[in-house]
Amino acid sequence: MTDTRTATAASVPLAPRALPLLGHALPLLRDPLAFIMSLSGYRTMVRLRLGPSTAVMVCDPALTRQVFLNDRVFDKGGPIYDRIREVIGDGLSTCSYDLHRRQRRLCQPSFHPTRLAGYGAVFARAAELKAASWRDGDILDVTQEMMTLTTRATMETMFSGALPAQTMRRALDDTAIIVSAFFRRMMTPALLRRLPTPQKRRYDRARNRLSATIEQVIAERRADPTDHADLLSTLVAAVDEESQDGQKQLSDTELADEALTFFLGGMETTAITLAWALHLLATNPDVQHRLQAETDAVLAGGKPDPAQLPSLGLAARVVTETLRLYPPAWMMTRTLRQDAELGGVRLKGGSTLVLSPYLLHRRSDLYDEPDRFDPDRWDGAQPDRATYIPFGAGARKCIGDQFALTEAILALTAIVARWELTPVGDQPFQPKVETSLSSRGLRLRLSERRTGGADGAGLHAAAPRSTPARPSAQSSTQPGAATCPVKHSE
Ligand code: HEM
Repeated sequence: MTDTRTATAASVPLAPRALPLLGHALPLLRDPLAFIMSLSGYRTMVRLRLGPSTAVMVCDPALTRQVFLNDRVFDKGGPIYDRIREVIGDGLSTCSYDLHRRQRRLCQPSFHPTRLAGYGAVFARAAELKAASWRDGDILDVTQEMMTLTTRATMETMFSGALPAQTMRRALDDTAIIVSAFFRRMMTPALLRRLPTPQKRRYDRARNRLSATIEQVIAERRADPTDHADLLSTLVAAVDEESQDGQKQLSDTELADEALTFFLGGMETTAITLAWALHLLATNPDVQHRLQAETDAVLAGGKPDPAQLPSLGLAARVVTETLRLYPPAWMMTRTLRQDAELGGVRLKGGSTLVLSPYLLHRRSDLYDEPDRFDPDRWDGAQPDRATYIPFGAGARKCIGDQFALTEAILALTAIVARWELTPVGDQPFQPKVETSLSSRGLRLRLSERRTGGADGAGLHAAAPRSTPARPSAQSSTQPGAATCPVKHSE
């Protein structure tokens, strides 16, 4: 019998379908979700091969939590973070354990509940403007629309909307190029990654231009350090009283890395969460109608407002359930800083671990009918900290979770108050699996809602458009702890 206390990584079963040289890279590139779900029978850990290197995938919720909570040993690293680091340097989400605590202390004030109150008003306004820009019968490129919404909201909360429209559009294009390249670059061996292909040149150009945009904004802000009540002002002013080396504030490079981190980390994740939520509502009209009833009652013909958040219980449950079914960070990686034991297996320093919220969120032994969209499963129930991890856990848990939830709930409310959403075509829509679980290509049809409302002309007759006509293919309560009626506490 094997003595599990001395078992090594070699005793962890190897996932089937490994090819010589490539290992599991092909199934991971071709149909990553099906491949990941095919591993759900492994209850603790399973080994994966990516080219010449091996990674251990953790399949058990308690072990996953153990990894999250011990970030001194299971540090940020592995192929995902190596690629992300190429763009955002050693920002808060990519930096190693040694740098993390100082950076987290410096960034935390930007997400303080008192700041979130102001951001909520920006989100509500941006969502209302976006929803008012559509026309009855439009077919929306939903992901694109949600990206422009969250880019605008993120830009305004970060930089008080100080960017000219053209710069904003360019930043949006560059971001789209960068995020769609991440996953492929992660799976491509280093040698091939360096080849000067047209994709690589496009990627490099986008990366350099986005960095230059952010650096320019920071230089302007350093020249005029008055408090603009935005995220960048808080970052510029942040002081780390616990600093041991006299470096009490963020340097220009650190500021640029953090600003890029928040921008890239916050914009796409929230946009695709919203896109998936709209998809799920369109394909579950009963839930959509119940949500519209909630919205009608809470808004009473007015506009969404952060003060209404505690009354938007169903909207919060829809977002919670969307993040269960489509966690944008469907896979995360860690690197061991030293030899360590996990689940009775001795792992060597330098080993790579893979964690997958998608796998845990869809395991039938953890959730009843795991593939069914059922926001009511959260009615009166708090998400379990081990089995529900769309924002990760422990010291590296998402710093923007309340920011994102506030934004998503207010945006959903603004949209369903005005619009009925229906699917286009009858083919089930499949995620495009990249570094995040993308909803790219999702299209939905809009119909104006005519029922209810205090303005007598239908609840929300679509406002006159200020944007060009399109068949849309382009295109108080205390927030923080009380933001989301479904608590996502650590
Ligand atoms: C629905 C939206 C979002 C999702 C699903 C999400 C998900 C995550 C996850 C899973 C992590 C942990 C990654 C790991 O442990 O490897 C994370 C970390 C992080 N997120 Fe988010 N995020 C979202 C929105 C945001 C927003 C809006 C911001 C900022 C404006 C943001 C900024 C960050 C940062 C800076 C970290 C690193 C935290 C640290 O290491 O201390 N995220 N996010």
